Amino acid sequence: MLSEITATRYVTPLREGGSLPGLVEADDLGTYVVKFTGAGQGRRTLVAEVVAGRLADALGLRVPRLAAVQLDPVIGLGEPDQEVQELLKASGGLNLGMDYLPGSIGFDPLAYTVDPAEAGRVVWFDALVNNVDRSWRNPNLLVWHGDLWLIDHGACLIWQHNWASAPAAAARSYDASDHVLAPFGPDLAAAHAALAPRVTEELLAACVADVPDEWLVDEPGFDDVAALRAAHTATLLRRVDGLAERIVVGERSADGPSRAPGWLTEWPHRPAERRGSEAARDEAREGGRA
Ligand SMILES: Nc1ncnc2c1ncn2[C@@H]1O[C@H](COP(=O)(O)OP(=O)(O)OP(=O)(O)O)[C@@H](O)[C@H]1O
Ligand SMILES: [Mg+2]
Repeated sequence: MLSEITATRYVTPLREGGSLPGLVEADDLGTYVVKFTGAGQGRRTLVAEVVAGRLADALGLRVPRLAAVQLDPVIGLGEPDQEVQELLKASGGLNLGMDYLPGSIGFDPLAYTVDPAEAGRVVWFDALVNNVDRSWRNPNLLVWHGDLWLIDHGACLIWQHNWASAPAAAARSYDASDHVLAPFGPDLAAAHAALAPRVTEELLAACVADVPDEWLVDEPGFDDVAALRAAHTATLLRRVDGLAERIVVGERSADGPSRAPGWLTEWPHRPAERRGSEAARDEAREGGRA
């Protein structure tokens, strides 16, 4: 189960994130990166964060600890940035928190070496959850205390956006050509041998069970939350068989378009409008100090 905590203070938006995650303090005295249910990408990205995050953790990959963050939109009332205020207003209830890793830096493949065994485990895991968002353009890896940490799994489990595609998705190959760890010679056979036996129905069901009900209710095509959880578990379980052979590591694409799906990259509020509201926020802050 995810621990449930309550947000006590909104600290600042994280400007790098497309979904406008925020730094938030909570009643357990922790500081969290919070992704909000009211963000444009919707609650399914939070479902993907929990299922993939819990699975990565269970497979021994490093992921910041997840928590369910209860939010009273009242904490955003003093926010000078209108976009932040609206996001918080739309996000009452449970949101997703990730333990903030202070002093972590974004992974740079030119500055940090990953051994083939670890690279293999990360690429294999990304293939399992169909993560299209760990490319050299956008690694979504942090380096903290010298170790590699995996973040941002909102784009995984793409089949949940069209459940009719889920049976076919189970057998689909995974193109890792643009994966940020592809140049490190990922040992996929070793990763498969070590990890595939651990991805059991029980493990997957336990990861899926950690998703709060309120992010799963009223999904079209499902009678209830239990049926939707079962579909998540079954789809992942079907992908495991022979997964390593379905991972393609080919030529890296040049500066071509991102292979991430449009709904992930084309959400309209960034970056031009965002820059405007960031400026407004900064001005308001400066004004407050003067
Ligand atoms: N747990 C964490 N500790 C420290 N920094 C973090 C953490 N999680 C995220 N960040 C920082 O916040 C940025 C945005 O986070 P993340 O990529 O998860 O958000 P996002 O909105 O899904 O972003 P995008 O879709 O634009 O990649 C990261 O690039 C990283 O710099
Ligand atoms: Mg990201």
